[in-house]
Amino acid sequence: MAPALLLADLASRTQTVPSRYIRPPSSRPNLADVETSSAATFPLVDLRELSCSGRAGVVQAIGSACQSDGFFQVKNHGIPPVVINGMLRVSKEFFRLPESERLKSYSDDPSRTTRLSTSFNVRTEEVSNWRDFLRLHCYPLENYVHEWPSNPPTFREVVGEYSKYARQLALKLLEAISESLGLEKDYMEKSLGKQAQHMAVNYYPPCPQPELTYGLPGHKDPNAITILLQDGVSGLQVLRDGKWVAVDSIPNTFVINIGDQIQVLSNDRYKSALHRVIVNSESETISVPTFYCPSPDAVIAPAEALVDEEHPSVYRSFTYGEYYDKFWNRGLQRESCLDMFRAID
Ligand code: OGA
Ligand code: NI
Repeated sequence: MAPALLLADLASRTQTVPSRYIRPPSSRPNLADVETSSAATFPLVDLRELSCSGRAGVVQAIGSACQSDGFFQVKNHGIPPVVINGMLRVSKEFFRLPESERLKSYSDDPSRTTRLSTSFNVRTEEVSNWRDFLRLHCYPLENYVHEWPSNPPTFREVVGEYSKYARQLALKLLEAISESLGLEKDYMEKSLGKQAQHMAVNYYPPCPQPELTYGLPGHKDPNAITILLQDGVSGLQVLRDGKWVAVDSIPNTFVINIGDQIQVLSNDRYKSALHRVIVNSESETISVPTFYCPSPDAVIAPAEALVDEEHPSVYRSFTYGEYYDKFWNRGLQRESCLDMFRAID
């Protein structure tokens, strides 16, 4: 029999983790050693204040979170609960379609703009991850929406609506981040060229032996900024001071993290943080990250205003297309892709 293309259906039939998902003992999650986050672990920033007199305080809070952890959560972000719930609902409906229906979107080619796949990059990796994912390009919406799944029947409309709101939130955050670095408000947005927006709908099935595998192993996001929508159960963990910290999912909030491109643009003032996803034996997990990115032809380099004698340019300039290809082809590794773009002194 041909090996299964997707994980979901295989996972529902097995009592043990198949060998291709098992990590060598030295790189397993070590779940006993994870800190469970208390409410205060990562800052919860109230974005309502961005449009009134409290703006400077919010900008400062975002700046200091980007500097210390590269992670924070946001509330009063402007995305209505009905839009969020719709997005989560069609995500679940999609992954409940018969496998033959889901497979219509299957591709293992990372350059495809719409595709359902599994793990991370099945063409290059040695060990697989406990995840299926649907990846979509979302901006400009009219260039891509016709490629998206047409089943569930409301998918295109509901996801299109969500992606427009997510873009507005990304732009709002990029403005605050630019200001927090002392740059013009539109600095980050302009640096991303024509811009791009991708979305993943991640599906992590229940796993009989979560201590042997990952939903996603430790990695840094290659894009500019990530807006993560979680559905109750969270498997996300962030490395802080050498320890993995579990991030709680809070209803109607988003987890925001800085990606590699903001680390570069900020000349290392802000950190793209290492994070991973662990799975659990009880329930499936759905998460929907929006990756806001430069367009492939945008040239990325540290902002001139952040480079001086004391802070020489840490990176050479490159196109995002070059960065992105390297990211997908080298696999998810602890060492960041950033190291391949350091300035030679
Ligand atoms: C990712 C990611 C987190 C999650 O897709 O890059 O880190 O909880 N996802 O699914
Ligand atoms: Ni990530």
